Amino acid sequence: MTRQRLGVCYYPEHWPKSRWRDDAAMMKEIGLSFVRIGEFAWSRLEPCDGVYDFAWLGQAIDALDRAGLKIVLGTPTATPPKWLVDKMPDMAALDANGRPRKFGSRRHYCFSHEGYAQECDRIVERLAESFGAHPAIAAWQTDNEYGCHDTVLSYSPAALRAFRRWCETKYRRIETLNQAWGNVFWSMELRSFDEIELPNMTVTEANPSHLMDFQRFSSDQVIAFNRRQIQIIRRHAPSATILHNFMGSFVDFDHYALGDDLDVAAWDSYPLGFLERSSHDDAFKLRYMRVGDPDFQAFHHDLYRACGRGRWQVMEQQPGPVNWAPWNPAPAEGAVRLWTFEAFAAGAEVVSYFRWRQAPFAQEQMHEALLLPNAMPNEGYDAVARISQELAMLDARVETARAPVALIFDYESAWAWRIEPQGQDFAYFDLILSIYRGLRRAGLSVDVIAPTAAAVAARRLIVAPALFAPSLEFAEALAESGATLLLGPRAGSKTADFQIPADLPPGALRRLIDIRVRRVESLRPGASIKISGGGAFVRWREFLLLGESVRRELASDDDETALARCGNVFYLSGWPDEKLLASVLRRVFRAAEIATLDLAENIRIRDNGAMRYIFNYGAEATDVSALIGEETLLLGEPILEPCGVAAFRRATDR
Ligand code: GAL
Repeated sequence: MTRQRLGVCYYPEHWPKSRWRDDAAMMKEIGLSFVRIGEFAWSRLEPCDGVYDFAWLGQAIDALDRAGLKIVLGTPTATPPKWLVDKMPDMAALDANGRPRKFGSRRHYCFSHEGYAQECDRIVERLAESFGAHPAIAAWQTDNEYGCHDTVLSYSPAALRAFRRWCETKYRRIETLNQAWGNVFWSMELRSFDEIELPNMTVTEANPSHLMDFQRFSSDQVIAFNRRQIQIIRRHAPSATILHNFMGSFVDFDHYALGDDLDVAAWDSYPLGFLERSSHDDAFKLRYMRVGDPDFQAFHHDLYRACGRGRWQVMEQQPGPVNWAPWNPAPAEGAVRLWTFEAFAAGAEVVSYFRWRQAPFAQEQMHEALLLPNAMPNEGYDAVARISQELAMLDARVETARAPVALIFDYESAWAWRIEPQGQDFAYFDLILSIYRGLRRAGLSVDVIAPTAAAVAARRLIVAPALFAPSLEFAEALAESGATLLLGPRAGSKTADFQIPADLPPGALRRLIDIRVRRVESLRPGASIKISGGGAFVRWREFLLLGESVRRELASDDDETALARCGNVFYLSGWPDEKLLASVLRRVFRAAEIATLDLAENIRIRDNGAMRYIFNYGAEATDVSALIGEETLLLGEPILEPCGVAAFRRATDR
């Protein structure tokens, strides 16, 4: 098993060459092992069309290598230079209003533009030829944060052409597409694939089936774009480790599908920025403004572990205030350390900080780094030095044990409920995160999984909220898993074509529990439906018809079924508030015979193999001795300080 290591993101092209050696020495001194470079450097690698300058990059790699550091080399395709954009102005993506997304920041390209894709092939090929065999290159990163700044969907002529062909490949006959989309409605029928338009600038909402296919197509374009780079790198460096850095709360393409082409999934963790951007209320944001949402980071660790089939890392860890959220507070003392250990607890191979030195110029000049703009160490630098000493002392290895509890996260579901929320605040991501939070409050370590037969096998409990259109095969895999299941709300409520199932929702899931959903309603803020035993439905509720084998476990105060049960299969017919969720989960845990805890709002634990980690996200020291028992602490104290981390090896692996 490999060691847990630290890294940093570095931009040698921003600093004089004379500085590189000192930087490398300082990095080494605080225990960093990996340095990511190159991902935005196209204008320096190819200053004019076909004129390459890789010498400086080679020198930077050598300077880092000589200090004993390993390199993650990024392909520069997120930042096409001006000469390239001028050469093919139609490579720009068009937004939903048909306006070009211009040069002057980054990600100014359309995934469907074949000319741009060929330019990318060329620069990636050159880089892979030059550095593919370099012994200091530990990994390659493709592009940077696909989709950042809302760049997956493009309404360009190139996207239109490619979408028509995509539809033709999928449906073969236009009549089949008309049927699948229900185009007889509002006389939307088409006579050929060349009549297909993109679903923007329509008078009122576009057809949800059309929107869904456009979203699927756009996701496929990202995956194809990435795959071209991977194939080129693999040709020149057959044993290279290839990764991509994903983002937080971002669902615009299917990350599982993209992850299938990678060796390692990485993600960029900015806990304070993400909290400020989240839909939490002000009281929550104030409470956690310096340490972040206690579940947000862990959720993504668990999600990206699934995208990397077990191998994952944090590529960009926030070390200080960022510049891009509505407000940008400084982390609490100890927060960077807490975030770092939480990632390792969830099986990260590397935690890498963004960035080495704060740039005094351009868009991110207010974004802190490990060093100040004048190269003096900043707070993040000292935090990292301490963390690396502790890691050496702990000598823990990268582990990813399969958790008995799994939560299904599905990209198509995220798209579906964005396309057709039906209630303005039906946000799939929020629903998933609230259920994840409920599981973690019960002290559980969770695997986030894709809806596949392999992922659901050998689990004790599977939670599958709002699963858009599960197939019959998947419903069977769920049944065969033998796990206790918590389904709903909205589960199986559509077919893959985005239509209501022939015999009503939950479609294929009726194999598991004989219910039908006859009516749904969405609830405005402030409205709620009380449920027996405490708590309420908010935002969303359904009205069920129950088959004979199904029992009503919980009822609403207007006498509708709130929780239905058949054997070990539960169906929850609404969006639960915190109290209702806790009471539903208690029943489900009992059925699954899972022992749970009742953790305080600020305390979280993570079990991984024999290790147990405890984290204090609160502003007060908290007594966690009951969670430790007689075990010997390797890190932390039983009275856990704010931002504290405790870790111990459990005598038995429970
Ligand atoms: C990430 C991005 C980095 C940098 C960082 C700032 O989204 O990958 O290049 O912009 O945010 O927080």
